[in-house]
Amino acid sequence: MSRAWRLEDARQTLLLFSQEDQLAEILYWGARLPAEECAETLAAARALDLTGGMLDSYPPLSICPEARRSFPGHAGLVVRTGLGAPLLPRWHFDSAQESVQAENHALTLRYRDTQAGLRYQAHFALDSRTQVLVAQARLESAHPIYLDWLSTPTFPAPQDSQALLDFAGRWCGEFQIIRTPWSAGGRVRDNRTGRSGHEHFPALLVLSQGATNTCGRVYGFHYGWSGGHRMVAEELADGRRQVQFGHAYGSERTAQTHFQTAPLYAVFSDSGLNGCAVCWQRHLRTRILTRPRTQAGPVQPRPVPPRPVHYNCWEAIYFNHDLPTLLDIASRAANLGAEHFVLDDGWFGTRDDDTRALGDWYVDRRKYPDGLDPLIAHVHSLGMGFGLWLEPEMVSPDSDLYRAHPDWVLGPPCQIRGRQQMVLDLARPQVRDYLFARLSALLTDHAIASLKWDHNRVLPMPDAAQTRGTYDLLARLRAAFPKVEIETCASGGGRSDFGMLHYAQRVWLSDSNDALERLRIQHNAALFLPMVATGSHVGPRRCHTSGRVLDIAFRAWVAAQRHLGFELDPRELTAKEARVLRQVTQWWKDNRGWLARADILRLDSPDPAIIAEQQLAEDGSRFVVFAGRAEASAQVAPRPLPLTRLDKARYYRLQLLNGSDAPRLSRGAPALKSGGLVLSGAWLMSFGLVLPWAFPQTMWVIKGDRQ
Ligand code: DGJ
Repeated sequence: MSRAWRLEDARQTLLLFSQEDQLAEILYWGARLPAEECAETLAAARALDLTGGMLDSYPPLSICPEARRSFPGHAGLVVRTGLGAPLLPRWHFDSAQESVQAENHALTLRYRDTQAGLRYQAHFALDSRTQVLVAQARLESAHPIYLDWLSTPTFPAPQDSQALLDFAGRWCGEFQIIRTPWSAGGRVRDNRTGRSGHEHFPALLVLSQGATNTCGRVYGFHYGWSGGHRMVAEELADGRRQVQFGHAYGSERTAQTHFQTAPLYAVFSDSGLNGCAVCWQRHLRTRILTRPRTQAGPVQPRPVPPRPVHYNCWEAIYFNHDLPTLLDIASRAANLGAEHFVLDDGWFGTRDDDTRALGDWYVDRRKYPDGLDPLIAHVHSLGMGFGLWLEPEMVSPDSDLYRAHPDWVLGPPCQIRGRQQMVLDLARPQVRDYLFARLSALLTDHAIASLKWDHNRVLPMPDAAQTRGTYDLLARLRAAFPKVEIETCASGGGRSDFGMLHYAQRVWLSDSNDALERLRIQHNAALFLPMVATGSHVGPRRCHTSGRVLDIAFRAWVAAQRHLGFELDPRELTAKEARVLRQVTQWWKDNRGWLARADILRLDSPDPAIIAEQQLAEDGSRFVVFAGRAEASAQVAPRPLPLTRLDKARYYRLQLLNGSDAPRLSRGAPALKSGGLVLSGAWLMSFGLVLPWAFPQTMWVIKGDRQ
């Protein structure tokens, strides 16, 4: 007997199929199939021939490939009994449950091995509005067992794909794209750091032949987990390919009876990388981010309200907290257009540098004799909200907390430290209770509108229980203080995954305020993150992390591509710089309403020196193009930049917003520079936009209004 299940929306079909009582396979995932297409016929059509030198049938590439059935690649499950002996379950179909709600079509498949006391469950949910497919696996055991590996339901990868894109990075250099050709064997990313990290953003994009930002088939996967993941993209010897995601191998460190993977957010796109990016940006914006609740009732996942312009004092003062200086800086920041003031590291314990005091979450009375209230009152008097930096999961060995509870530390005492600090073991309820009590007291005693939640070192070893502990603490705080927003930070963008964004509303994407670096980092991060969730700050004239000196217009426009903020010392600004910053900030405020719901589309720039994107309004009526010139071009004349997703038959009025930034060496008169221009969507998409000549490290900003 065979069984088939089908989930679909306007774009795609996911077809699962099983023979007898065996585990199901994903028979097909791609462009939508006709309703009459018969699963049995497709299964027969897809069956592979046999030849010499192989088994007498292909071991199934099921949703959980089984070592017991001679699967020759990475198995979907690796478990051991409580005594450590390998377990090779023999699964039998148990039940299937489908539910169809307004915008959600869900399927749960259950299997059991009665003799071994095990149950396996695969869950799929297709969101027909965002077109994101969420897949998750679960394992239950009658007795405590050790789990080394549990994959989210395994996906077959397309045979016509030539390349895989995944992500690497470092401090101040997040979201670096790695392109790998498929070849025999596996590409395995196993993140052993215990946090999603700069080095291993948990995602994979499988590109079919010829796919670019704007066209072609792409199969995208993002694992929504903050504790470090394993990804396997493997080509078997017989040519079949599989994709698995799960927690980092072996990160479940104790014998347990219940395990589950994090959700895998899978997207099929027939419109290039942007087809994935738009789905993820929208899904995050409308399904995952929760906006602060103003009255009793559950926290509602909704689009976040208009984002206030941030000011963060970190790079202005570091640990030198001095009230009169901060009052002055706050006044100047407000005068530039800031609406939210974040007091960064250095306000608590005896935190005079980064060697001490983490864990002592009490206001430092040496620096703030009357507490934080005078600063908060001043910030409020300027019409700004107040935010506070914390790093709750950490402890300094030189702290009262550590002296009182050295046993609260995660890992052995002799471990290598990171930034001179250690990690608290958040799997322990008493540690979470301490942190909840301290943070609650701070939030109760002060008018704090947001927390910047930092995490500045990796764990001593991967530990899924630590991540669950962090999520638990965050959930308690969100429930107790629903109006308080959270900005996730881990030395910049080291924890920017969808798991964390169930609790946080903003990502501090990088400690690099170098606009040139930021241009690339946020361009790549836009594959997942919408504008409303991506913090971007105007940094000092000479960047503190690169030493590069960049013009204020470039710094301001790059930050204005995302959730705008300032992190420079406003006292360093010349009158001209302050004027430019005010102008760009005002433009951002005037446009943030529609930009908050726009799609960020990466453009296929024919000139590698130009990193360009188009932010397109939800209803397609307007857009803004940011064309950042990272370096000088190889050729003399700027190459036309094709736009995307416009209406071919409609006309758009174009306007260069910052034409006055043109240098004297731009001495011609291209139409865009000379005034307004009306062009068809067809022209803009097939020929493109001819930009004026520009210096490296500058940005053109062009708005378009549909006529
Ligand atoms: C690392 C963060 O990324 C910075 O923005 C700043 O908050 C420092 N930590 C403070 O220690």
